[in-house]
Amino acid sequence: MSPLVRIEGLSKSYRRGGQRVPVLSGITLDIAAGDFLALMGPSGSGKSTLLNLIAGIDKPDRGVLRVDGLDIAAMSEAALAGWRAGNVGFIFQFYNLMPVLSAFENVELPLMLTSLGRRERRERVALTLSMVGLADRMDHLPSELSGGQQQRVAIARAIVTDPRLIVADEPTGDLDKQSAADVLELLNQLNRELGKTIIMVTHDAHAAQQARRLVHLEKGELLGAPA
Ligand SMILES: Nc1ncnc2c1ncn2[C@@H]1O[C@H](COP(=O)(O)OP(=O)(O)OP(=O)(O)O)[C@@H](O)[C@H]1O
Ligand SMILES: [Mg+2]
Repeated sequence: MSPLVRIEGLSKSYRRGGQRVPVLSGITLDIAAGDFLALMGPSGSGKSTLLNLIAGIDKPDRGVLRVDGLDIAAMSEAALAGWRAGNVGFIFQFYNLMPVLSAFENVELPLMLTSLGRRERRERVALTLSMVGLADRMDHLPSELSGGQQQRVAIARAIVTDPRLIVADEPTGDLDKQSAADVLELLNQLNRELGKTIIMVTHDAHAAQQARRLVHLEKGELLGAPA
């Protein structure tokens, strides 16, 4: 079976002034559907850059990058935006919730881009917020929620469109131990029970242990055997 994500000889550099700053060089990695991959590495090693490439937020300079058979690197910005909306859920270190919207409205936001009617949207949002254990916090603003609860709202927002792929950039980086454990448990559940493919960047070795597979980035190169 072909992998959900296929990466071969992927390179990326940024231009600053007249200089080229190489960030990723010749990354080769396959990620199977249903995998839960942890990506570790020192600060500046290119973890977020790689995650953003896989999620179609940024474009590589060279190499193969296919997600579900689609050549992500070759797609137009407009096509990518549509693809992302239906196929990728994002979770960030600092939640990135809209401060003026309630938990409910934050989770509803990605559904506004779909053809779902109001009633169907409301049902989906309520169900998803229940899944993350926040049925009783739907009307709270982000500022009225703890960090762990805000991250669970962000997870609900990431999964409400039922994407196959979830990318998480240090999702427990800003959380206390218990909230981090809750978030990891939730990610594990999404992987095992709903078959979501998860790619998680983390600095926390304990968090990485929760994943099925661990790869290390070091100065833009993958270490170890990228099966
Ligand atoms: N837009 C940009 N322009 C120029 N250089 C960039 C840009 N974005 C990232 N870089 C450089 O690319 C390198 C990798 O950055 P990246 O954010 O991927 O690292 P990271 O592994 O996620 O680090 P951290 O653990 O600190 O989040 C860094 O040296 C950074 O300075
Ligand atoms: Mg980063």
